[in-house]
Amino acid sequence: MKFTFPQMFGAALVITLWLIWVGNIIGNALVHVDEVEVAAVTAEPNEASKAPAKAAPAGIAALLASASAEAGGKQFKKCKACHTTNQGGKNRVGPNLWDVVGQAKAARPGFRFSDALKGKGGAWTYDDLDLYLTKPKDFAPGTKMSFAGLKKAADRANVILYLRSLSESPKPLP
Ligand code: HEC
Repeated sequence: MKFTFPQMFGAALVITLWLIWVGNIIGNALVHVDEVEVAAVTAEPNEASKAPAKAAPAGIAALLASASAEAGGKQFKKCKACHTTNQGGKNRVGPNLWDVVGQAKAARPGFRFSDALKGKGGAWTYDDLDLYLTKPKDFAPGTKMSFAGLKKAADRANVILYLRSLSESPKPLP
């Protein structure tokens, strides 16, 4: 089969127009999908912020059951530069920590606590200790405790169990 030039030109024109038309449809479909995806992606953080994500300290109660106060005592070396642990011990850079579990926050006599920590209110629960020790500056923005935090939940559980042992009558486990 042989085509004349006008025939070929005509065919090319038809094909070009068809491609533009089809391309347009596909393009629209893609843009549409993109928009849906973008909407889905932007919706997620909102959903997440509604959920009590921060208040879910990876089951500190469960971790405490298998934690070791002895291991916590070793971990506590990181804290010793600033904290004493004996009954009636001195406040240093940070307050004495005897019997801190279950005690009111920022209430140790003779220590000038930051407004940030004083403002938190309430007693030191296991959950609050877990959150504070994870990242002090997140739990109480403006806290005077310049300590990065203990990233590992198991380390925190050990340290918290150790803190609990600093008492004549350790508080019941959660
Ligand atoms: C660089 C010094 C420093 C280090 C290291 C440090 N802390 Fe502190 N800590 C402070 C200061 C200062 C405060 C008082 C915070 C405030 O007033 O905001 C504090 C407060 C606290 C409190 C609250 C006490 C209360 O009576 O309310 C606890 C509990 C605590 N620290 C535990 C720890 C543990 C456990 C570690 C180690 C994992 C540690 N800290 C490491 C300086 C330190």
